Amino acid sequence: MTIGIIGSGAMGAGIAQVVAVAGHDVYLLDQSTTALEKATAGIASTLRKLAEKGKMTAEAAQAATARLHPTTDIQDFSNCGLVMEAIVEELGVKQQLFRQVEMVVPADCVLASNTSSLSIASIASACQRPERFIGIHFFNPAPLMALVEIIPAVQTREGLAEEMRALVQSWGKLPVLCKDTPGFIVNRVARPFYGEAIRLLEEGVADMATIDWALTELGGFRMGPFALMDFIGHDVNYRVTESVFTSFFFDPRFKPSFTQKRLFEAGYYGRKSGRGFYNYAEGAAMPEP
Ligand code: NAI
Repeated sequence: MTIGIIGSGAMGAGIAQVVAVAGHDVYLLDQSTTALEKATAGIASTLRKLAEKGKMTAEAAQAATARLHPTTDIQDFSNCGLVMEAIVEELGVKQQLFRQVEMVVPADCVLASNTSSLSIASIASACQRPERFIGIHFFNPAPLMALVEIIPAVQTREGLAEEMRALVQSWGKLPVLCKDTPGFIVNRVARPFYGEAIRLLEEGVADMATIDWALTELGGFRMGPFALMDFIGHDVNYRVTESVFTSFFFDPRFKPSFTQKRLFEAGYYGRKSGRGFYNYAEGAAMPEP
């Protein structure tokens, strides 16, 4: 099956790598040629390194790279059996995108969103055939994180969630089915994790390096909350918090923080922009706990 992926940023590029390695031809579309070039060069380099480390054969790495077709032309999706989007986390933009996708893809092509927080039903509602729409939510970085949430909307046809679960499993992932509720499983549990960490910082209970250190060294987390928010990107993470808060009818448990909002407004998106809670500029010293 040929797969179309829209958005070649952190998530789209990672998902493209996963499905190309699994043996699918992949059309990776972005509106930015710079993003496309970065993604394709990044995937080729990652696969080469995996082959050098003996994690896959050089032939398999080359074959997967050859299955990847970067494009800016949506017409290339005309033979796709599945199209997944990983573009900006904005409902109107995603809805508009799927209206265009549906004009090109075959009638039985499955459409999926990698949204972190928007309702799958609301994106599906823009489609002519909402019954073929579903959420397939990967985690960052997609090639390394096994978990994938499969989220049928109220409109999704019976059986599609199971079909997607089997497909995602065949890619070596561990899919979990969940209901179309704000933040699904992981992003809902994660909101208080980030929110409470920011509150600790705002109250002066400890500095962020200490909080990150405590949670990694003592708490057993892979990354502390501030390092993780910087890794995800505040453009993405702030929007997700705002969306979960709004979708839960302004439940104060999910209230966003002005501290993170200001980082978002300033363009301090984290690692991707060189500055977030921490400063990643060359030569900048990371604070010690
Ligand atoms: P990103 O900012 O790294 O990449 C987004 C890409 O989409 C950019 O290359 C941009 O040029 C492209 N794009 C935006 N609008 C477009 C359009 N209309 N048509 C074609 N290309 C377009 O974003 P990231 O982090 O990859 O997130 C993408 C989606 O995945 C969001 O919905 C986000 O909520 C979700 N997500 C993000 C995770 C993360 O940790 N960053 C984890 C899981 C899901």
